[in-house]
Amino acid sequence: MKERLEQIKTEAMEVLKGLNSLEQLEEFRVKVLGKKGELTLVLREMGRLPKEERPVVGQLANEIRTTLENALNAKRTELEEAALAKRLEEETIDVTVPGKKPAMGKLHPLTQVLYELEDIFLGMGFDVAEGPEVEWDKYNFEYLNIPKNHPARDTQDTFYINDNILLRTHTSPVQIRTMLKQKPPIKIICPGRVYRSDAVDATHSPIFHQIEGLVVDRNITMGDLKGVLDVFAKQVFGPQTQTRFRPHHFPFTEPSAEVDVSCSICHGEGCRICSYTGWIEILGAGMVHPKVLEYCGINPEEYSGFAFGMGLDRITNLKYGIDDIRLLFENDIRFLKQF
Ligand code: PHE
Repeated sequence: MKERLEQIKTEAMEVLKGLNSLEQLEEFRVKVLGKKGELTLVLREMGRLPKEERPVVGQLANEIRTTLENALNAKRTELEEAALAKRLEEETIDVTVPGKKPAMGKLHPLTQVLYELEDIFLGMGFDVAEGPEVEWDKYNFEYLNIPKNHPARDTQDTFYINDNILLRTHTSPVQIRTMLKQKPPIKIICPGRVYRSDAVDATHSPIFHQIEGLVVDRNITMGDLKGVLDVFAKQVFGPQTQTRFRPHHFPFTEPSAEVDVSCSICHGEGCRICSYTGWIEILGAGMVHPKVLEYCGINPEEYSGFAFGMGLDRITNLKYGIDDIRLLFENDIRFLKQF
């Protein structure tokens, strides 16, 4: 029996040396030391030994078990370390590989310019007001002193939802909404989308954007209007920019003007952008018509005001040298990325 035990030990130690995975090691442990393992089976036969031999063989068996267990544990540690080393090697990070840049979005050029213009007016003490794009006919036209038979009300120009409701053709109805609910002093700009039934081409789009301005208070004069627009023009197009007021007609302002800025490309010399005039028209403006104040419950004897309306798309195109309004609405990433 002693010989068999010694043999199990010698064989086991030999096999152990050759094992090279943790799975093999576990299989081996069960085979030799497990409940039905070789060593256990031999020990079961101890009963057949003469009494005086049993303690000696028992001691030997225990020694061999301990030796094998120690060898097994040592082998396990060795294999675990090797496995870890292998994983670490495989998982090494190459710190010299260039990083993956997250794709960054950015604001649409119209939004960028809108924020810039808003900042300029906020800096002059204006608040931002907004109104609905689907508007009452009366706010878009009647309260603005545009009578029923006015050519601007033609279905050629306006998208009607029904007789009383339409898609606003300008941001001026926000003037009305503001004056109806707020008493002077009023000092607001109203940016927003507007709609006209125009055929699409390089300078026309059925959807475009305006920024309206309205100031109503005591003693507001045309001088205030000119001052505000001059500061505005210089901030948007540069300090050398001149403004020019040309007489015009709007039903809701009197007097009315169209306002030009000196061409920021050629500085008045004349170029393709300004059609060789040196000037570029950017907005309509005027003193709020007394009738409009009256319609909104503001006494024109006590208060006066000025208003202006500009095209955001046009200003964006001028600032960036974009020559086709359609580019602003096509959402071609290659185009938008440039701004
Ligand atoms: N609402 C006018 C337009 O759309 C612009 C404007 C606004 C003119 C305010 C004068 C005062 O053409």
